[in-house]
Amino acid sequence: MDFLALIFCLYLLWGLFQALSLIAKRGKRSPSNLPPGPRPLPVIGNLLELGNLPHKSLAKLARTYGPIIKLQLGSVTTVVISSPTLAREILQSHDAVFANRTIPDTITAHDHHQLGLPWMPVSPLFRNLRKIYNSHLLSSKKLDSNRHLRSKKVQELVAYVGKCAHNGDVVDIGEAAFRTTLNSLSNTVFSLDMTDPSTSAKELKEVMWQIMAEVGKPNIADYFPVLKKIDPQGSKQRTELHFSKMLDIFDGLIKQRLQLRTQPGATTSNDVLDALLDVVEDKSEDLDISLVKHLFLDFFVAGSETTSSTLEWAMGELLRNPEKLSRAQTELHLLIGKGKQMKEADISRLPYLQATVKETLRMHPPIPLLLPRKAEADAQIGGFTIPKGAQVLLNAWAIGRDPAIWASPNEFMPERFLGSDIDLRGQNFELIPFGGGRRICPGLPLAMRMLHLMLGSLINAFNWRLEDGVAPGKMNMEDKFGITVQRAQPVKAVAVPV
Ligand code: HEM
Repeated sequence: MDFLALIFCLYLLWGLFQALSLIAKRGKRSPSNLPPGPRPLPVIGNLLELGNLPHKSLAKLARTYGPIIKLQLGSVTTVVISSPTLAREILQSHDAVFANRTIPDTITAHDHHQLGLPWMPVSPLFRNLRKIYNSHLLSSKKLDSNRHLRSKKVQELVAYVGKCAHNGDVVDIGEAAFRTTLNSLSNTVFSLDMTDPSTSAKELKEVMWQIMAEVGKPNIADYFPVLKKIDPQGSKQRTELHFSKMLDIFDGLIKQRLQLRTQPGATTSNDVLDALLDVVEDKSEDLDISLVKHLFLDFFVAGSETTSSTLEWAMGELLRNPEKLSRAQTELHLLIGKGKQMKEADISRLPYLQATVKETLRMHPPIPLLLPRKAEADAQIGGFTIPKGAQVLLNAWAIGRDPAIWASPNEFMPERFLGSDIDLRGQNFELIPFGGGRRICPGLPLAMRMLHLMLGSLINAFNWRLEDGVAPGKMNMEDKFGITVQRAQPVKAVAVPV
């Protein structure tokens, strides 16, 4: 049964629920001074207000009710924040109260909500894993030491586009970026390609797609927790199977590597797997193989689609704005040399390229509502009470498009960031595509290296035009909502060597 049909059935049970909730409400104190918001319907509350593109529907509601609004999503009280001032209150001033998350039911498969970093509550284990991410996996030193792995994958991307250019074939940018991101991640982690048919990694790619589709789909059990046991859409059951497949593949790759490490004269690969096995063997950090497998699951699910869809948006915006593309290319041609290979070490010398990536993430944050937070206690925010247990969503998309903060917010203007101090590291609350506070995205340094390197390489090596018949001004720039926001229409373009 699909999501809307289920909502309809629930609506028919309205009479029964209403009677029950009246009885329940009599004994329950609900804090006064709740944020404003649209009136909820019985039982389903404001679920229908979300529409197909919740970040846009919620931005519209914020224009009517203000930067803090309350919605009733089934039985889940939800507060949506849409201003930098209030985002700072949640992510900085009251960080401890809002550091935990509401958990989608699918994520409880294989206890991933307790073993996966994005979902586990703040605890000694959480702090330990964050430390491992920051020091052993994604520190500048570590990323510098394995940058050759990513560089090789980007060279392959350039070679692939070169071949398409030679044959006059159209390039599907999102598809090519996804393959490169996935292979960059899998080389950073395992020193192998996800798309290599000779490894189990190819299967990993397919399972990962299935996981993203499942976790991205709305699930009625998240809004009516009494339905969790029944799992009416079968979402959790399917996720169990996908997680099993993925964890088994990781298990195989870990066993192979452990065996390799016991061989005399074995050299380390300097990848994430070796770094983590060193930590496990060292026994000082309380990390075991089961946690390592869940960490890999997050690494791929959290890192691949986010990075590749951002690259596709960046190329889409540059193709729609040829004068910005030409300015970015001129910078690269002058500093790197036309058609020469760009390196990660060049990024800091390329202010316009950096501004282009920031501008893309301002307009198209791939997780527009960030990951949900949960109030651990009643909290006073913006003069209103957020009640204990409420889900809290931060609408990074609405903040990035607010005309009170950004001049001409719907125009792609990388120049706005030239000479500006605003960065993406969670200190400037008008630009928070990676979140902020103690749960800020730990993948940020890796994502930034991959984005700049892929984008810079693609535009330094080629001139680009849209596929025949599509004029820049007529491009479809609509979104499609899933686990990440993707383009409704893929960017397809023709490359010509510079
Ligand atoms: C453009 C690329 C990316 C974007 C926009 C992005 C965005 C985000 C956001 C919004 C959050 C939630 C932050 C919060 O609650 O305040 C998050 C969390 C997370 N991200 Fe990313 N991400 C990206 C790439 C990556 C990569 C490449 C990795 C891993 C290699 C990664 C791993 C994670 C993890 C593990 C968390 C959970 C952190 C926690 O809950 O403590 N992300 N990301």
